[in-house]
Amino acid sequence: MPQIFDRSSNALARMSLVLTGLIVIALGVMLDQLQRSPWVTRQGQRPDQPVPFSHEHHVQGLGLQCQYCHTTVEKSSYAGIPPTRTCMNCHAQIWTDAQLLEPVRNSWYTGQSIVWTKVHDLPDFVYFNHSIHVNKGIGCESCHGRVDEMPLMYEQNTLQMEWCLNCHRNPAKNLRPTSEIYNMAWEEPTPYRPVWCAATADKTGVPTAQDVNCTTANPDTGGASAQMAALQSPPGPGQGSEGAAPPIPVPVPLPAAYQKFTSQDELGQFLLVHYKIKSPRLITSCNTCHR
Ligand code: HEC
Ligand code: HEC
Ligand code: HEC
Ligand code: HEC
Ligand code: HEC
Repeated sequence: MPQIFDRSSNALARMSLVLTGLIVIALGVMLDQLQRSPWVTRQGQRPDQPVPFSHEHHVQGLGLQCQYCHTTVEKSSYAGIPPTRTCMNCHAQIWTDAQLLEPVRNSWYTGQSIVWTKVHDLPDFVYFNHSIHVNKGIGCESCHGRVDEMPLMYEQNTLQMEWCLNCHRNPAKNLRPTSEIYNMAWEEPTPYRPVWCAATADKTGVPTAQDVNCTTANPDTGGASAQMAALQSPPGPGQGSEGAAPPIPVPVPLPAAYQKFTSQDELGQFLLVHYKIKSPRLITSCNTCHR
């Protein structure tokens, strides 16, 4: 039987197969890159807003707390965006003529809410909850970055599944005292900047985070050391008798059993236990976030 295709077409066929393979691989890589690119994840983008609201001015400049505007962040799944009334608390008096604030005044007079563009927006098939995270010692900054340094809001992290899982696999490295969740400049403990924590007795059934007290000021300065000093000071006139041995200083136990932590590793492990953080296996299972 005569050959229908000559030899060269055989080589061509092989070459085109190889080429197709390469193109498929290249496309795959490109799609993967694209899927992670800021263009898709919106990471770092500052969308146009009706009012150029600056967190830097209002948080760092004026010292407003996050909860002043995001009132439900500790109590519900949503942090919430403040109503116009919150802005008018101040802007009824301050910057009343500013052109920038026209949409705020307009909203106030018409009763129509300001329509902010969402910066963070998970797909609907993902379950997320703020109160769970902040009540277990994850600070706003761990997920949103230095909001106090943002003249315009942007997304610091990708919010992709891999980002959530990265923390869920090892939450200890991000746990901080719940008293520090709003602190934008919290730093892990070091030997030069230790953290002290005390856990009071476990109340039945109550979530435990509230039963842990932490401080960055040495709890062993006020009461305890003062008593030590009193014990060590020489007896005054009328006290003690000639030749009597000076009183032996007795170490005074700290009021609550404060433990000192000099690294995030130690602190994280302590908080992991006392906040009763679920095991990584549980919080990385699919139905945690896809219900
Ligand atoms: C004076 C009120 C006010 C305070 C205080 C405030 N915010 Fe906001 N925040 C807003 C407004 C208004 C928006 C919506 C406009 C925008 O995205 O900039 C917003 C948006 C956000 C968003 C993005 C919401 C989205 O669309 O995804 C985050 C995250 C956020 N704030 C975090 C914080 C944190 C963290 C703090 C404390 C450090 C804080 N905010 C303090 C008023 C406030
Ligand atoms: C506690 C008082 C207070 C509240 C509440 C407040 N502002 Fe302001 N705002 C100020 C002050 C003071 C300035 C002037 C800041 C400056 O120039 O340093 C200002 C400035 C502004 C400016 C001008 C641009 C800038 O950042 O300097 C905009 C826009 C603005 N505010 C929007 C808002 C919106 C929107 C809200 C409600 C979500 C709001 N503010 C809530 C006090 C407040
Ligand atoms: C574990 C990560 C994480 C922490 C911690 C966190 N957020 Fe968020 N935040 C998110 C995610 C994810 C979204 C997007 C939610 C969505 O689209 O459903 C979001 C959305 C928001 C929004 C937009 C409105 C809303 O409720 O969806 C605001 C405002 C906000 N966060 C403020 C805060 C503040 C203030 C804190 C600290 C008290 C904080 N967040 C702590 C991850 C976090
Ligand atoms: C920086 C760390 C961190 C990041 C980032 C984070 N989480 Fe979490 N998440 C935690 C911790 C800690 C818990 C508390 C687990 C517990 O209650 O024991 C938790 C709990 C949860 C829970 C409740 C689990 C349960 O069964 O009680 C859900 C749902 C959840 N996270 C969803 C998300 C989603 C979705 C994202 C990404 C958009 C995310 N988390 C990002 C640390 C994180
Ligand atoms: C800690 C929360 C969390 C857990 C646990 C989790 N996911 Fe996701 N998942 C997400 C988030 C957030 C997204 C949205 C990602 C985005 O918008 O890019 C997502 C997206 C997806 C998607 C859509 C495709 C994609 O990647 O965007 C699929 C499919 C998926 N998850 C499957 C799973 C399976 C299977 C498991 C269990 C092995 C799982 N997820 C566990 C948070 C989680």
